[in-house]
Amino acid sequence: MDVADRPVIGIFGAGKVGTALARLFVGSGYDVLIAGSPRQTALDLLISVVAPGTRVATPDELIAASDVIIVAVPFGKSATVPWADFGDRVVVDAMNYWPPVDGHIAEVDADERSTAEINAARNPLARVVKSFNHVGYHEMEDDAMDAGSPLRRAMAVVGDDPDARAVVARLIDDIGFDAVDGGELAVGRALEPGHPAFGRELSARELADLLSPVAHLAA
Ligand SMILES: NC(=O)c1ccc[n+]([C@@H]2O[C@H](COP(=O)([O-])OP(=O)(O)OC[C@H]3O[C@@H](n4cnc5c(N)ncnc54)[C@H](OP(=O)(O)O)[C@@H]3O)[C@@H](O)[C@H]2O)c1
Repeated sequence: MDVADRPVIGIFGAGKVGTALARLFVGSGYDVLIAGSPRQTALDLLISVVAPGTRVATPDELIAASDVIIVAVPFGKSATVPWADFGDRVVVDAMNYWPPVDGHIAEVDADERSTAEINAARNPLARVVKSFNHVGYHEMEDDAMDAGSPLRRAMAVVGDDPDARAVVARLIDDIGFDAVDGGELAVGRALEPGHPAFGRELSARELADLLSPVAHLAA
């Protein structure tokens, strides 16, 4: 599936990250849909207050309308998102395995893959990109800056499909960050909690250095 110049953005998860990203994308002129938890009530009211301009959708409506799907639910609930229905869309995994929230998941603790690879295996057709996960939700809006600003913060994109990485890199630039292409999805390990790129305010050069093969293998 080709992605339009101005892709429609669909976000799973109307929590801290999902609503921060919704505000940023609506503010940058994107059409944004959001789907909340099955047990969430009064989502229309919530979204009209915290992310006005975002359209509340069912999962099916979101998938049908979106060119790029961002998954921003707790990692431990990732399997409740309908990955199999995403087809070959560009899908951004914004999640972190975070034991204080998710509990310790023995299979994940024993898995050598990055959590993005674990998620990507839920739909081998989807063009999964890992991004947004290494920046705090509160910093996403506070740290956004115009292109060319000398102190502009960087965000990484990693994924096995170069075109998908380019699509997400453009989105990152539009919402106010320098995008750094880190290469294949396995490099997502370097963006996970406990690794040097996680949660740090980095320039594009600094982030690129941390994602280089040697640096991320050493992390
Ligand atoms: N907080 C941060 O600064 C930050 C930054 C970057 C990345 N992240 C990562 O991003 C993810 C989301 O974090 P968050 O802080 O936004 O969490 P959050 O505030 O708890 O929001 C997540 C939302 O997703 C909902 N949800 C669960 N299953 C869903 C489903 N199948 N479809 C749609 N929505 C669903 C949750 O509802 P229920 O409560 O009903 O489960 C909750 O409302 C996590 O993996 C986190 O590690 C967090």
